[in-house]
Amino acid sequence: MEMNTYEKEHSALMRRAGAECALFLKRGSGFPLDAPCEVALYGSGARNTLKGGTGSGDVNSRCFVTVEQALQGAGFTVTTKDWLTAYEEERGAARRKFIKQIKTEARKNHRNAIMEGMGAVMPEPEYDIPLNGSGHTAIYVLSRISGEGSDRSPVPGDILLSRTEVRDILALQNQYQKFMLVLNVGGVVDLSPVLNVENILLLSQLGVETGNVLADILLGKANPSGKLSATWSAWRDYPTIGAFGCFDDTPYTEGVYVGYRYFDSVGKKPLFPFGFGLSYTEFTVRPGTVTLDGETVTVTAAVTNTGSRAGREVVQIYVSSPAGKLDKPYQALAAFAKTRTLEPGETEEVTMNFKLRELASYDEDMSAWVLERGDYILRVGSSSADTVPTAILRLENDAVTVQARSCFGKTGFTDWKPECPAVAEAPDGLYVLQIPAGDIVTQTVAYDVTRPIDPAIDDLTDNELAYMSVGAFDPKAGVLSVIGNASQSVAGAAGETCGMLKDKGIPVIVMADGPAGLRLSRDYTVDAKGVHPIGQTMPDGIIDFMPAPVRWFMNRSGSRVKPGTDVRRQYCTAMPIGTALAQSWDLELAEQCGDIVGDEMERFGVRLWLAPALNIQRDIRCGRNFEYYSEDPLLSGKLAAAVTRGVQKHPGRAVTIKHFAANNQETNRYSNNSQVSERALREIYLRGFGVCVTEGQPKALMTSYNLINGVHTSEHRELIEDILRCEFGFDGVVMTDWIVSIGMQSKEAVHPAPNAGRIAAAGNDLTMPGCNDDYRAIMKALADGTLTREQLAINVSRIYRLAKALAED
Ligand code: BGC
Repeated sequence: MEMNTYEKEHSALMRRAGAECALFLKRGSGFPLDAPCEVALYGSGARNTLKGGTGSGDVNSRCFVTVEQALQGAGFTVTTKDWLTAYEEERGAARRKFIKQIKTEARKNHRNAIMEGMGAVMPEPEYDIPLNGSGHTAIYVLSRISGEGSDRSPVPGDILLSRTEVRDILALQNQYQKFMLVLNVGGVVDLSPVLNVENILLLSQLGVETGNVLADILLGKANPSGKLSATWSAWRDYPTIGAFGCFDDTPYTEGVYVGYRYFDSVGKKPLFPFGFGLSYTEFTVRPGTVTLDGETVTVTAAVTNTGSRAGREVVQIYVSSPAGKLDKPYQALAAFAKTRTLEPGETEEVTMNFKLRELASYDEDMSAWVLERGDYILRVGSSSADTVPTAILRLENDAVTVQARSCFGKTGFTDWKPECPAVAEAPDGLYVLQIPAGDIVTQTVAYDVTRPIDPAIDDLTDNELAYMSVGAFDPKAGVLSVIGNASQSVAGAAGETCGMLKDKGIPVIVMADGPAGLRLSRDYTVDAKGVHPIGQTMPDGIIDFMPAPVRWFMNRSGSRVKPGTDVRRQYCTAMPIGTALAQSWDLELAEQCGDIVGDEMERFGVRLWLAPALNIQRDIRCGRNFEYYSEDPLLSGKLAAAVTRGVQKHPGRAVTIKHFAANNQETNRYSNNSQVSERALREIYLRGFGVCVTEGQPKALMTSYNLINGVHTSEHRELIEDILRCEFGFDGVVMTDWIVSIGMQSKEAVHPAPNAGRIAAAGNDLTMPGCNDDYRAIMKALADGTLTREQLAINVSRIYRLAKALAED
């Protein structure tokens, strides 16, 4: 079937964008190839290429081209058909065994197999298939998948390479004249056993065009220009200071030392540092001027393409702040810019800026953001490990930038700090800029603000206010669907607001998932009762673990369409996963991706996109890292803001940034308690959300499943009111993550589920996707006085205003 014009345009952009997100970790001889040739293609991702991860972040595009198909389409002759088929059989058998094993375990432990299996990563099987493809060129595509519901593990075939993978990759490096290891992964794999491979490409998972982007890179039609958005190291070198994957309470003992902030501060060299990436060409970056205008620091740098192919470079500014009362990580990203495409020999001067107050640290004793006195050493370069000290910003006295208020209680432990921290050296004679005393003004935050009630809401009864607060409330329905299909208006949309008050002028807000595109059902039918998706709307990772009769029934009822039925289509574009988009370090591209989503939302009647997702990649084991951008809050926040701008330039469309906050693991995800110090929360886990709110003005936000220091984020008034609304200035709608309140928690979990009454009392406007119990909980809270009508009316006013604004836009 011929693609629609919009699909062609969107895919074309994805194909161009792909190489911006990919990068070489190692680059040697042999590539790019002069022309298509015989290619011996191996590896898990060659035929089963992955466009993204599993779960609500998976996008149902019309079609998807695998690496094998793309290479053939580009004129290559794949000489390893037998290997690929034999591998498929091995993998199929292993998958069946894996599913059976999970189901048996679940039965034995009286647990739900779907919950146990959701997002569970099947380690790559071990096998012995001869590597006998002809030709001089071999490509090994290594893939890894993960998704919501489960975390990854440092076992062979997941974070570690399997025995078979190591053996085959090393053999291929010797056996073929030209060899490239291609990583079709959503997160870090430990490459330490295969470091002598000459060419390693981190292709990532790039949505619909993943295979074609690789073909373009192999043939030199595209030049990768990405940079890592996380530190890639050997598994054994990652810190073990903070805990990860604990069932009930997870102490973030490492404090602010996350990712490169840890590696640099203890002087440990990772295999591939944050911000690193190679391409087919080389660049020099020469720092230029540094100027200070009030609080704004402006830095220029001249970038020259010194290689022999056109390409793009990312310039990065890091600042080492002086340790005082507060310890400081060795350095933190302060700004970045990507050049345009530079021809060989061409130079571009890029300009970057940031505000001095963005360098402040949070002092818990003072409940304030403070710039401590001393020298702030500014370095410019092309990765976190390759910078040149460029200037010193000198501050004579401590300065309070924001007088805040404590919001998160105590953790019961003191954050770790390095015993002998690496100290940033500034060479003699480095240019010094004095920060004039008095230039830094203390901002005070207005808390305890009275929020308005819209006159249109005044006349609603208590019951009506309660309906409006619980998603697509319908008294006749019970619990609404889990993932991907709780909307009556748009097939496969994740949810919507209550439609019972349409007559009173309150429009419905339809919401659909992301973040790697818009998640809807591909095909559907419509009748008087509403829309009906055809085929599966649930992610495969869930279907696989359902009992056989249920699977049979779902397949049958979902896919049987009577002849002559009017079948409608919604083809959405799968785009690069969050991490890959972040690797582009390209805010323009991020905005364009948002633009594509906004366009598809207009076509299919979706008002709110449940994305971008900007949680911090705290640990490489988090099963949802692929949806998230980075281990760095600034990069995460800037990208989310750019995507937001792209979506929200479309009339009546807006984003829902998620998951607020400290949602960094999937183990016991509904009721895990993140124990984090207020400083680490503010500097690392909340900062990106603040940047996104300021620079992108998202119209909605989703709280997370987890608790923070004992309080569910969905019920956390300080998080929602004090931080989000008062400090960040957010004035949109806040909603919960899906089914928080219906007791999906494991029976063994110690922290009880949230409750819609408490959620509303915390100023969280919507419990999603909404069910009878939520409605009853709100009515009960109103009756016992734990929720006031005023608070409920304030919440509903926000929903009303957004619904109206989107409908009238
Ligand atoms: C996920 C959210 C998603 C929601 C709706 C939840 O399970 O955590 O990210 O937006 O489902 O599908």
